[in-house]
Parts: sequence; structure tokens; C-alpha cells
Amino acid sequence: MVDIASRIIDIPDYPEPGVVFKDITPLFADPEALRATVDALADHFRALGVTKVIGPEARGFMVGVPVALELGAGFVPARKPGKLPRKTISMSYELEYGTDTLEIHADALTPDDRVVIIDDLIATGGTLAAVGKLVEETGAALLGYGCILELAFLSPRKVLETKDHEVFSLVTVE
Ligand code: PRP
Ligand code: MG
Repeated sequence: MVDIASRIIDIPDYPEPGVVFKDITPLFADPEALRATVDALADHFRALGVTKVIGPEARGFMVGVPVALELGAGFVPARKPGKLPRKTISMSYELEYGTDTLEIHADALTPDDRVVIIDDLIATGGTLAAVGKLVEETGAALLGYGCILELAFLSPRKVLETKDHEVFSLVTVE
């Protein structure tokens, strides 16, 4: 059994003083830990008939694509503004200072799709909540959110979790 949590390193005061950055690159560099991470996320959602995994740029791509492959689903990128070449829908969300925006192609999802949103980390939940709103705007069924690491002390479930939308994380920091 691979200890996923031990492959995530705390980097104090990065990118600014007072912030503890969670470095997932050792986890991705370890073949067994990477396989265990992808399998555990995919296994959790496997029975739900997922047709699309959606992941936010950039680290959501790293986790979302292998999970989509493992589920036999497609992958939809939620990108930072101006990166997608065709018609998009976009959603802004609050950061500690200011706002940010994510976009998906307007035709990326249809009402027949069954969607799981995957990212590396859920902190405030703001990023994934914005992606969730994009999914709902398309009429696709949003099944839930999955991540490697959840910063539970920031209470992201208050933002994300509903009776129809579960939150699943492999490692929780209380
Ligand atoms: C990080 C992380 C999540 C998000 C979580 O992404 O990868 O996507 O923050 O924070 P939240 O729950 O408070 O919204 P970041 O915006 O740093 O960009 P990156 O993935 O491109 O590194
Ligand atoms: Mg991110």
C-alpha cells in the first residue's frame, strides 16, 4: 500500500510568506504513488457511468487526464482566459486578492454527459465551484468533485458539497 500523503511535501512561505505550498511533484515522480493515486480516484467514481472528466488548468490536467483514461471517459480542459480557440463559456471566481476566470468550449459538454471534476488540491473550493457552475450551465449532470488533497480547515465542502454533488479526497488536512 503506497502512502500518498508522504509523497506530498510542505513548502513553507511559498509562493509568499505565511502560505504553506503543497508540492505534489514527488508524488507524480513516483510511479507506484502515481498509479495508486489515479486508481484510487478512478475507483471511487467507476460505477457512476462517467462520460467526461473536467480538470482546471494547470494541475487539474495532470490528474484529470489519467483518471479519464482509467474511467474510459473523455477529458475536458477548463482553461485560463483566451487559451481556447472556439466559442467558450466562462466563469469568474474570487481569489484572496482579486478574481480569476476559467473557460470551457461551449460545445465541450452536452446534457447527456455525466461529469466528474478532478483537481490536485481543494483549498477554499472556489476554483472547483466555478468549474461546477460551468458544467451546470451546459445542462450536463455533475456527479461530484475529486482531488488528491483537501485542505479541510478552509471548509471547502461548505462551498462544494450538496446532496447531489459529493466531494472525494484521498488525503485530508484538518
Ligand atoms: C491551485 C490548485 C487548485 C486551486 C485550489 O491552482 O491546483 O486548482 O489552487 O484553490 P481553491 O480551492 O482555493 O480555489 P492554482 O490556481 O495555483 O493554479 P495551477 O493549477 O495552474 O498551479
Ligand atoms: Mg490549479
